[in-house]
Amino acid sequence: MDYAIKCDDLENLAGDCLVLGVYQKRKLSAATAVVDEMLGGLVTRLLKRDDVEGKAGDVMLINHVPRHQFERLLLVGLGKRETLDAAAYRKALAAASKALKDSGAKTALSALHEAEVKGEDLAWKIRQSVEALENALYRFTQLKTETENNKPPRLAKLQFWLANVQDVAAAETGLKQGEAITRGMRLTREMANLPGNICTPSYLAEQAEKLGRAHKKIKVNILDEADLEELRMGAFLSVSKGSRQPATLIVMEYQGASAKAKPIVLIGKGLTFDAGGISLKPAANMDEMKYDMCGGASVIGTLQVAAELGLPINVVGLVPASENLPDGNANKPGDIVTSMSGMAIEILNTDAEGRLLLCDALTYAKRYEPAAVIDVATLTGACIVALGRHPSGLMGNDEDLCKTLIRAGEKSGDRLWRLPLWDEYQEQLKSNFADVANIGGPDGGTITAACFLSRFAKDFKWAHVDIAGTAWKTGTEKGATGRPVPLLSQYLIDQAQ
Ligand code: BES
Ligand code: MN
Ligand code: ZN
Repeated sequence: MDYAIKCDDLENLAGDCLVLGVYQKRKLSAATAVVDEMLGGLVTRLLKRDDVEGKAGDVMLINHVPRHQFERLLLVGLGKRETLDAAAYRKALAAASKALKDSGAKTALSALHEAEVKGEDLAWKIRQSVEALENALYRFTQLKTETENNKPPRLAKLQFWLANVQDVAAAETGLKQGEAITRGMRLTREMANLPGNICTPSYLAEQAEKLGRAHKKIKVNILDEADLEELRMGAFLSVSKGSRQPATLIVMEYQGASAKAKPIVLIGKGLTFDAGGISLKPAANMDEMKYDMCGGASVIGTLQVAAELGLPINVVGLVPASENLPDGNANKPGDIVTSMSGMAIEILNTDAEGRLLLCDALTYAKRYEPAAVIDVATLTGACIVALGRHPSGLMGNDEDLCKTLIRAGEKSGDRLWRLPLWDEYQEQLKSNFADVANIGGPDGGTITAACFLSRFAKDFKWAHVDIAGTAWKTGTEKGATGRPVPLLSQYLIDQAQ
C-alpha cells in the first residue's frame, strides 16, 4: 500500500473512493456535509432511505456517484460525537477498512480523521488508520499455490485529506509510525504463520540475520548449542535435548543512542513448536503450537520498527529458540537441571518449557545492565482462561514499568491487564528435591509462571507479558495477529521522547 497526505480543497481532489464520517442520528461530519451539499443532498437522502444511523462500525457504500470526482463514497458511522473515543474510532476504522478492501476501489481519499477522538491527536488517528487497513488487507500467501488465492487486493493507494497545512507535520509523524509498526507486524506474522517444519529455530535466526544486514544499527549474533553449553544454560538446553533441530539464542543489538546509554532488553519466547515434550499435549488444536514462537517473532519485528524509526535509544532483543518434543533424549518429569543462574530446577511438567528458556535468557540479560527488561511469551493456557483473548497478561517487579506499559497498551490499542505477583504465590513453586519446581499446581497458573521468572529477574526492573490469548486468532480466522508489536513499539517510542 502506498500512503500519502493530501492538503487541498476537497473540490480539487479525485479518486476511486472518498471515505467520509457520519455521526449517530445521521449527523454529517464537516467534510461529509460539504460533499452532501455538492451532491444536492444525496448523502442525507441515501442514509435515510437505507436507515443507516451512523453507529460506530456502520458502513454504507455509495457505489456510483454520477458526475463527481469520486466514483464511490464510503460513509462510515462514528457513533455519537460526544462519546467518540479510541475504542469507537478503532471499531469504525476496522469496518471502514474491510468495506474499502471489498469496494473494488484502487485509490481512496479519507477524511475520517477530521473527527475529534477523545484524548487522541491527529498523529494517532492517522497511525490507527494505517494499522486498521493493513490488518484488513493482510493475508498469508507464502505457501498457497492457487493463483486465485494469491491475487493481490485492488486497493493500492490511500490518501489522507487535510484542510490545514499546519496539520501536515503531525499527520506525517503518524503515517511514518503507522507504516513502520505495520511492517514490523507483518514481519512477525509472516514468521508466526509458517509451520514448524519450515519455521525452525535456525529459520528464526536467519530472519534475524537478514534484519541485521538490512540495518546498520542492528548487530546480530547467533549463539549455537556449544555457546549455550559454555554459558551453562542448563535449563534452556534441557528443552532442546528432545529435538533434532539445534537450539539457538538470537542476540540482536540495536544501537540508536550512545554506547553508554543503558539498553531496554526485550526477550521473546521462541518455541517453534511445542508438543509438550514427554508431558505430551492432547492432539486437538496442537497445530496451533507452531505459534509458540510469537513472542520471539514480535521481538524481531519490534527491533525492525526501532531501526526504521531510528529511535534514539538502545534496545537489545533476545530470542531463545527451540522445539519441545517427546524423544528418548527429552526431559522427563522429575528431572532436575541447573540453570545459568546456578539455581536447580525440578521439571515436574515438561510442557512448562517456556520458563526454562526464559529464565536463562533473563540471566543472560544481566550483562547489559539494562534500564528495563520486558519478556513477551505465549506462556500459559491459564492466561486465556483468566483474561480471554482481548488483553495480554502483565506482571512485573516494578510499579512504574508496569504503569508505563499499561499506558502504552491503551494508546496503541494492544492492551494489557495486570495480575498480582504477590509473594504468597511463590510458595506454590516449592520443590522437595531442587531449589524450585517448574510448575505451581492448577491454581493461578499465569501468576505462578511469572513467579518462576521473577526469581531470575531480581537484579533489574522487569515486566512479563503473557500473550497466549492475543498473539494469534483461533477458529475460522486462524492466524497470527502481530501482537504485541504495537505495544512494544509504543513503549519504545515513549522511551525515546
Ligand atoms: N505454549 C504453552 C502455553 C499455551 C497453551 C499458550 C495453549 C497458548 C495456548 C506452554 O508452553 C504450556 O504448555 N504451558 C502449560 C503450563 C502448565 C504445564 C503448567 C499450560 O498452559 O498448560
Ligand atoms: Mn508447553
Ligand atoms: Zn510453550
